[in-house]
Amino acid sequence: MKILVTGGSGFIGSTFIHYWLTRHPDDSIINFDKLTYAANPESLSDLTANPHYQFVQGDICDEIAVDKLFSDTIDLIIHFAAESHVDRSIDDPMLFVKTNVLGTYTLLSAAKKHGNIRFHHISTDEVFGTIIPGVVDVFSESTPYNPSSPYSASKASADHFVRSFGKTYGLPITITNCSNNYGPFMNPEKMIPRMITNLIDGKKVPIYGAGENYRDWLYVTDHCSAIEAVILNGKLGQTYCVGGLKETSRNIDLVKQIIKLMNKSEDQIEFVADRPAHDNYAVNWDKVHNELGWEPKETLTSGLQKTIDWYQTHESWWRAAKTEAEAFYQRLNAARNK
Ligand code: NAD
Ligand code: DAU
Repeated sequence: MKILVTGGSGFIGSTFIHYWLTRHPDDSIINFDKLTYAANPESLSDLTANPHYQFVQGDICDEIAVDKLFSDTIDLIIHFAAESHVDRSIDDPMLFVKTNVLGTYTLLSAAKKHGNIRFHHISTDEVFGTIIPGVVDVFSESTPYNPSSPYSASKASADHFVRSFGKTYGLPITITNCSNNYGPFMNPEKMIPRMITNLIDGKKVPIYGAGENYRDWLYVTDHCSAIEAVILNGKLGQTYCVGGLKETSRNIDLVKQIIKLMNKSEDQIEFVADRPAHDNYAVNWDKVHNELGWEPKETLTSGLQKTIDWYQTHESWWRAAKTEAEAFYQRLNAARNK
């Protein structure tokens, strides 16, 4: 099978490419990625000589560049490419409209034009908005969309386009809406690697608000195995929610757990201005479990330990991205504290 992966140089995409080529060595992957600030080509440097892997730099909004990819026969598209950071979407929403909405539309049109190619779309639990106790206690496939941030609104819009191409043109689509991923190779702008790298640097760990917000955490290779299950055995036209825990974790508890695993002091915790429209998430992943037999392998503790070990031994991978991320946060904090 020949697979077109978009956004394969980012966190989840690069982990997925390694995961898939290890388990399906006869398949070939083209990674189409613009290489934005969020990409790190180092994550895939071990594959440069692999004849089953090809990298093409380009923008999913560029109709001509996307069209060119189909000069080869493509059997399956797995669409990871996106602007993925909520805080950056608050700072520059239009970029999210372009990449996440227009980019997804451009890919869907190409998939339709070149023979209704199977299209798997990677989405997020953020499209459902926030948990409202007593009204929406947990997200599932039937939860109405109610996005809060420009990021989640753009992903919700993309999901609607994907489904509309399935219904209107018969495009064979599937969607996974997953919770917060974590693990090695994640840009240190995101919470878990930001906390770990700040602790390594002896800096304070900034918690938004009172740290009461909660998330479901999914170790990245568990996400990859869920995508594999849906690609191989999922029903066309269907959506699958993917989560990693049975109980959510509050940010303050998660940070304290990281501090403990790293033998650091809770004195390093600092409470800072909250994110606007700060959501809470919890995911019911019964459908992917009951229909496809999928379940996560990592516990939060085992996944955190693996992640901490990796950041402690891979400073050369994350240092430049951290410098860039902290410069972004300095600007953001100045605006939030005004
Ligand atoms: P990431 O930010 O680490 O990587 C995104 C990748 O997409 C980068 O390599 C970037 O260069 C590429 N990209 C961005 N704009 C592009 C464009 N216009 N054309 C081509 N490539 C472009 O993101 P991630 O965390 O790996 O997330 C991957 C997907 O999973 C996204 O669709 C995201 O919405 C979704 N998702 C992420 C999480 C999470 O916790 N990280 C959870 C749920 C869903
Ligand atoms: O739920 C899935 C989503 O998870 C994905 O769709 C997004 O692409 C991904 O970025 C992630 O979004 P979050 O906003 O949940 O992730 P982030 O790492 O930015 O924040 C996690 C929580 O930690 C959130 O409640 C905000 C808080 N936080 C974050 C940062 C960066 C802090 O308290 N301090 C911080 O410095």
